[in-house]
Amino acid sequence: MKILIAYAGRVGVTAECAELLKKGLDGRDVTLCDLKKEKPDLDEYDAVVVGSAVYYGKAEKCATAFMRENSELLQKKHFAGYICCGFTDMADKYIEETFPRELRRTAVDCVYFGGELKPDKQKGFFKKRLVKMMRNDIINNGDSDDEIMIRILPEINPSEITKLAEKLKKL
Ligand SMILES: Cc1cc2nc3c(=O)[nH]c(=O)nc-3n(C[C@H](O)[C@H](O)[C@H](O)COP(=O)(O)O)c2cc1C
Repeated sequence: MKILIAYAGRVGVTAECAELLKKGLDGRDVTLCDLKKEKPDLDEYDAVVVGSAVYYGKAEKCATAFMRENSELLQKKHFAGYICCGFTDMADKYIEETFPRELRRTAVDCVYFGGELKPDKQKGFFKKRLVKMMRNDIINNGDSDDEIMIRILPEINPSEITKLAEKLKKL
């Protein structure tokens, strides 16, 4: 079975999750595709996983456009989706808004793989500040104690990635 993992993000977390999923699918025929750089030919694949980061409350446009434009074809394949975002408690809402109902209905799964807020990786003063503010917002009262950050800041969730890989392996 040929599996495509098509993803879209900005600072590397969604791409890293795609790599980790590929690793979890060890031994399977898996192709990675950065939707910001190329448009894959879906005819080649039996299963398609679409991954997107969330920015300003929305999935990446190229990911949603890809699903919209290929909706009929994707419904004939095994489909799975994942999102990466900073606000864990918003993940279910984002999943619902990102993956069209017709794909979610028959999907292997649509899941939250975690996310990371990396101010240092942001380009430009405004974005660095914004991500710092988001981190502080999550930490609640702006406390910047390292131990607190490690406990509650979002991070990639490897067990969710493994779970999806196991489901895909059973197809
Ligand atoms: C400018 C900016 C806006 C963001 N907006 C949201 C948002 O609305 N909701 C959310 O949960 N996370 C938000 N995030 C967090 C990203 O979704 C998170 O950092 C994700 O891991 C980024 O994935 P990427 O590295 O693949 O781009 C935002 C991050 C930045 C830098």
